[in-house]
Amino acid sequence: MSAQAITVVPTAVPEQLVDRFGRTVRDLRISVTDRCNLRCTYCMPAQGLAWLPGPQLLTVAEIARLARLAVERLGMERIRLTGGEPLLRRDLEQIVAALSTLRTRIGTKPDIGLTTNGLGLDKRAAALRAAGLDRVNISIDALDPQNYAALTRRDRLQDVLRGVAGAQAAGLDPIKVNAVAVPEGLSERAPRLAAECLRRGWQLRFIEHMPLGPRGTWRAGDVVGADKVLTVLRRAGFELAPVGRPDRRPAALWDVAAGRGPDGADYPAGRIGVIASVTAPFCADCDRTRLTADGRLLTCLFSATDTDLRSPMRAGAADEEIMRIWAEATWSKPRAHGADDLQAPSDFTAPARTMSAIGG
Ligand code: 5AD
Ligand code: SF4
Repeated sequence: MSAQAITVVPTAVPEQLVDRFGRTVRDLRISVTDRCNLRCTYCMPAQGLAWLPGPQLLTVAEIARLARLAVERLGMERIRLTGGEPLLRRDLEQIVAALSTLRTRIGTKPDIGLTTNGLGLDKRAAALRAAGLDRVNISIDALDPQNYAALTRRDRLQDVLRGVAGAQAAGLDPIKVNAVAVPEGLSERAPRLAAECLRRGWQLRFIEHMPLGPRGTWRAGDVVGADKVLTVLRRAGFELAPVGRPDRRPAALWDVAAGRGPDGADYPAGRIGVIASVTAPFCADCDRTRLTADGRLLTCLFSATDTDLRSPMRAGAADEEIMRIWAEATWSKPRAHGADDLQAPSDFTAPARTMSAIGG
């Protein structure tokens, strides 16, 4: 891909969304709420976060309309529902059911994923699956109740584990587990998490800590890079062989040989991933676009600006008008986020919203 920007802005509504750098959007991430029942330290402040008032959230019909344009008119193939915590929306099953009726260019149902903290998933997994949910990513940063409570500020690990069990029982497979690689206790936490996920057949992915949490809490020097995570695992005895990044997805995968965990119990062979969003960003391969819970379009997680789709929609805009706004915003998507420039983050400003408000 050329880093040279094309400068002519397209005027007609295109059949797919492309930007100046030749990237095509295929993946739609929809945040359905900014609320959460956890307070992960890297994501939210302990208290004092104001929620969006209910009427500002997109309704099921509005989400379905934007997703229909994305999938049936603009060529997107995958949808991921995020939050905040998406399970806090009581109508999540209705949202999934509406998305399931969409058809991609090749006549298939879009792939529908959910990123959740797992709380309450045991009660909803079967209905979500029946509505058309294909996969889940569950955030679990530690498998020790105290560590988990310290990182999420809530003592809820047992509830989360019940949620994962419910997802498995409902046939949501594979279970992917996200863990943010924060430095606190990493040398104990990471090997334990890795061994336990291999035993349970969950695909663990460590994510580098991005500057998307409460303002002023992220320091470039504190970022645990993917290399450090791998070093910690190797030191704990894990044998890792590189698989690469299949389909140029964000996670670099590693084959893990069977071995003995830090607790003395065996684990089987399997795979883990590391997502180097900060030290080795994958902006050149980015095929995502995001909608916030209040209907703003973000072409990049780190966009300083957003594009309001809800207001034109509520003012009666036609599909063509909404798609034109979407296409124009996509055209201006920045080339890269700049958070990787750790020595001199000159062209990087952390967005005003935290991850919970943007959608992960
Ligand atoms: N850096 C990296 N990942 C984050 N997440 C939330 N905040 C951050 C951050 N600052 C992750 C959560 C969850 C997903 C929604 O995003 O762990 O898995
Ligand atoms: Fe909630 Fe997810 Fe943010 Fe944790 S990372 S506080 S689970 S939105």
